[in-house]
Amino acid sequence: MITKALPAVLTIASLAVLQVQAAKEVFAHLIVGNVNKFTLSDWEDDMRLAREANIDGFALNIAAQDESNEASLELAFGAAGKLGGDFSLFFSFDYLAQGPWPADRVEALVKKYAADPAYFKPDGRRPLVSTFEGPDNAGDWPGIKAATDAFFVPDWSSLPPTEAAVREGGVADGLLSFDAWPVGATNITTKGDEAFQAALGTGENKKVYMMSVAPWFFTNLPKFGELGGEDGQNGGKNWLWRGDGLWDLRWKQVAEVVRPDYVEILTWNDFGESHYIGPVRDKELGLFASGGAPVNYAQGMSHDGWRRFLPFYVDVYKTGKVPEEVGEEGVMAYYRTAPALACPSGGTVGNSKARGQSEMKPEELVEDSVFYAALLNSDDGVTVEVSIGGKKLTGGFDSVPTAGAGTPGVYTGSVPFGDKTGEVVVAVLRDGKTIATAEGGRKISSQCENNVQNWNAVAM
Ligand SMILES: *[C@@H]1O[C@H](CO)[C@@H](O)[C@H](O)[C@H]1NC(C)=O
Repeated sequence: MITKALPAVLTIASLAVLQVQAAKEVFAHLIVGNVNKFTLSDWEDDMRLAREANIDGFALNIAAQDESNEASLELAFGAAGKLGGDFSLFFSFDYLAQGPWPADRVEALVKKYAADPAYFKPDGRRPLVSTFEGPDNAGDWPGIKAATDAFFVPDWSSLPPTEAAVREGGVADGLLSFDAWPVGATNITTKGDEAFQAALGTGENKKVYMMSVAPWFFTNLPKFGELGGEDGQNGGKNWLWRGDGLWDLRWKQVAEVVRPDYVEILTWNDFGESHYIGPVRDKELGLFASGGAPVNYAQGMSHDGWRRFLPFYVDVYKTGKVPEEVGEEGVMAYYRTAPALACPSGGTVGNSKARGQSEMKPEELVEDSVFYAALLNSDDGVTVEVSIGGKKLTGGFDSVPTAGAGTPGVYTGSVPFGDKTGEVVVAVLRDGKTIATAEGGRKISSQCENNVQNWNAVAM
């Protein structure tokens, strides 16, 4: 933290370090419009669950015309206060959902909440303010910054990072990338992140990089697509990106390759795009009706399993090293709940045409497999058993920790479920004895609700 009177012994170099944020931090993107029925205790529950997962705070996504914002923000800061200063919040002004934010309203909100102890201030002084898009309103920000002293880290991913970094004389103090999914049937790489880091400079003028991590992506909200904009394709907002193998690979990239200043998890509760890692509460699912979804594809589709190894991943990211002991060994698993060709696709395509990507058939993009990840001290003597409707399959690991097999870390693999249906149980055994199981997710079935494919996954 910056104190007003700096000790005289500080060198220029250590001063520069002090002015940049202190520690690496991990946030989760929370759609405030989805929680307009939340009580104070719902907010507290979600914050506690996030804290348990080693998440430092929420990026509060707020849409410009949403009348529920005011009450929700009061509750959010109230709940964070009750957590005793252990959980941070900052604003992510959404310039797409309901159009651009007027500058005076941005200013007023930042001024109102920046002084709250829960508002995230990287150097203890300047409130971090982010956006979802809005590069056309970059011209508002020199004024907003002058009025609020905001530390400005927008997501302007629709621009190349070299342009975003210099927009309006370089008004951004850092950039958030929303590029958290691979194109087509590939594994995500860190090329995009490296382009951001290069554009953000080095040395004393380095701007901060906030990297994004997501577990999945599927959306089928025809009415939202009709509004046009970037999401209007195929007569609606209706596409899929590949989540197979994504979460664990991406966290390895965060912790061991990119090592960004900050991480933003996409998301805590965006049920409409199936990349939530928070709990699914019925009171948050109104968007499936308003968006004209053919089926409520989040209801009963828990993603809790994607939080299980976050304490480990975040520790490795923050400390820069893998511990000699991982703590409690465990397993998590995720899968779609019907074979890709079991039911009509619902018009969903692979890739986003609106982003210049070529369309694929969704079944070419995802595998009918049960994916699993095991956090182990070592895989010596370890086997994996995947049971589907009582039929047992033997699994292996196709990715091991960077230091190699036999070392502590996360091991991942998958087995095709083919035409097997029923309850899924994934067990990890060492020397024939079960050490961890993942179970309790929705059953795999050859039938689909409303006879339309649900391209979301369960994670248990
Ligand atoms: C993605 O990575 C996993 C783990 O290393 C590997 O098994 C799989 O074949 C890769 N998939 C593609 C499409 O490259």
